[in-house]
Amino acid sequence: MTDDHIEALLDRLSRTQQLALVRGATDPEGTATGYLPGVDEAGIPPFRLVDGPLGIRAEGERATAFPASIATAAAFDPDLARRQGAAMGREAAALGQDALLAPGVNLVRVPQCGRNFEYLSEDPVAAGDIGAALVDGIQSAGVVATVKHFVANNQETHRTTVSAEIGERPLRELYLPPFRAAVDAGVGSVMTAYNRVNGTHMSDHERLVGDVLKGEWGFDGYVVSDWYGLESTVGAANAGLDLEMPGVAAPGAADGDEGFEWPDGIPDATRAGLFGDPLADAIDAGEVPADRLTDMVRRVLGQMDRFGRLDGSQGTGDDAGELDSQRHRDLATEVAARGTVLLDNDGVLPLDDGADVAVIGPNVDEPKLGGGGSSETTPFRSVSPVEGIEARAEGDVSSAVGVPRIASVSLFDLLPFVGEDGDAGEDDTAERDPSLDDAVDAAAAADVAVVFVRDATTEARDRDSLALPGRQDDLVSAVAAANENTVVVVRSGGPVALPWREDVAAVLEQWYPGQGDGDAAAAVLYGDRDPSGRLPVTFAPESEYPTAATERRFPGVDDEVHYDEGVFVGYRHFDDANASPTYPFGHGHSYAAFEYGDAEVVDDQTVSVLVENVADRPGREVVQAYVRPPAVDGVERPERELAGFEAIRLDAGQRRTVTLSLDDLAFSRYDSDSGWTVDEGTYTVELGRSSRDVRTTVAFDR
Ligand code: GLC
Repeated sequence: MTDDHIEALLDRLSRTQQLALVRGATDPEGTATGYLPGVDEAGIPPFRLVDGPLGIRAEGERATAFPASIATAAAFDPDLARRQGAAMGREAAALGQDALLAPGVNLVRVPQCGRNFEYLSEDPVAAGDIGAALVDGIQSAGVVATVKHFVANNQETHRTTVSAEIGERPLRELYLPPFRAAVDAGVGSVMTAYNRVNGTHMSDHERLVGDVLKGEWGFDGYVVSDWYGLESTVGAANAGLDLEMPGVAAPGAADGDEGFEWPDGIPDATRAGLFGDPLADAIDAGEVPADRLTDMVRRVLGQMDRFGRLDGSQGTGDDAGELDSQRHRDLATEVAARGTVLLDNDGVLPLDDGADVAVIGPNVDEPKLGGGGSSETTPFRSVSPVEGIEARAEGDVSSAVGVPRIASVSLFDLLPFVGEDGDAGEDDTAERDPSLDDAVDAAAAADVAVVFVRDATTEARDRDSLALPGRQDDLVSAVAAANENTVVVVRSGGPVALPWREDVAAVLEQWYPGQGDGDAAAAVLYGDRDPSGRLPVTFAPESEYPTAATERRFPGVDDEVHYDEGVFVGYRHFDDANASPTYPFGHGHSYAAFEYGDAEVVDDQTVSVLVENVADRPGREVVQAYVRPPAVDGVERPERELAGFEAIRLDAGQRRTVTLSLDDLAFSRYDSDSGWTVDEGTYTVELGRSSRDVRTTVAFDR
């Protein structure tokens, strides 16, 4: 539809009809997370928005449960992320949805943040490249992607009120770039965060939403609030918010007792309708320009038109065959396997097909689909660790739980009108009688003991610590003492403490593997798939993260959290502190072995290096490029910053020249006076296997 046609449509819409397109309503079919009724008499159909980044959460519907977003990111493969995005887009369309509320690209700043599993990395280039690929994939299926949560939603504690106090330079160099990458990839929608930035609610933030997102970056899609996340009518409309969601109070929410306090991290679900009559009144009072409402509607209609909803060229529910299709099942398992990181291996892996294996852990009979909250999915099928290993093993397989089951936690346990406050830790109503002795005996009797451990995270709650919940650490130590061939498979939403890591033979980080859990674990354990994941976040002792330094930095004081660390987040901090993390950013072993030739300059933004697989088996490598800037008096800069990466697969003995285009801002820093600045001097581009395993370098002069 041409712009003229949109304008003609706009001219025909009454104010009431326009308001119906900027404020959510109740979905009569009850499947959508957010719903616009459309304007039937103007030929504008209903428009449905649905969660989430790990798969489609349409009420009462099942869909493929993909791995946690951090697992997708750990594969460091934009093509794989794009394929996952396209599959999720197809399933959204098959379920009659028009917009998917994904991807989440907030930076992993706080290691215990309850939503790290829904995010991508501590590094803005990694988060930006993978996030942009997910956007591209989702939208290739004719569904609007919604990048979230703009910006600095880096913790769950007090998320609806806390003010992230951030300097302009870290905002520009770290927290904004993943959203910029999504805008440059053509994302159709941006969701604002609940939190404040430098004192102003993001839904009221005229500078970041109006001036930066829409002005500087030229974003021409629609800006949607987080659910119940509008702070004001006038402030939001004038800041550049275009769509209020869900726009109606949650069923039952208004029944709360007088003086009822919403739990921390839970928005007031009665707060709705700000873009209804109050917006009309504000326009009549001259507080909001009438053409702002027209622009809001133009942006919403523009995306509906772009994705074929106005002329009926693309509808929803047109490809139900893709729900739970074999290729989606295979893809979910592939992403889980590709995102698995081999942290340590003394040679016990890959397992011999005929090995007798003891599968141990409190939840080995259930898949680790994801974390709690709006990203929860309900798959058609799933494979538990025991099932996956039993299907793959040729030796005997025994299993033992060892300690009480680890209960999952969920935001929905915290909603007063839904259920009781859930709490991670042990589920002491475990239906089995866990026995550490049984686990130790099973381990002692097997060739190899594989212990599956997990954390428990959810939206709206940060973790109390990086320690694994329950008595899982005791279980690992007891099993390791009984069998020197003990392998631990960790399922976590981000960094965790691994106190026993030097006592075991191998450690795999599988994140939340989704429905393909057991199959993905078995494929990597037996070497059918090379562990190709690399760490998108640093693993380190909890006290050594920059946010552990003061309460001001996390969880904040007086509802303000101060990003005093500036640009020194993640590996940038550990390099600056000259500290040795437990496992560095970008780390991950392969079953193969790779040698690097000399790096070469291709042009002033591109480098290349010859990589050879010198092992006798195929393997996957993630070639990483970091830029080390020249020292400049008075300027503090990270020692190195990721500037590009590529995941490759090489057969035994195969060699390939890998060419990496460096990020546009690879040599720049943001100066609050002069903006983006490239200091004169010699820049060293490091190429290697991780931020701490540099194999070759080459110099660039600027
Ligand atoms: C939630 C989340 C957001 C989600 C939305 C709809 O509170 O913050 O990520 O998409 O509400 O469920």
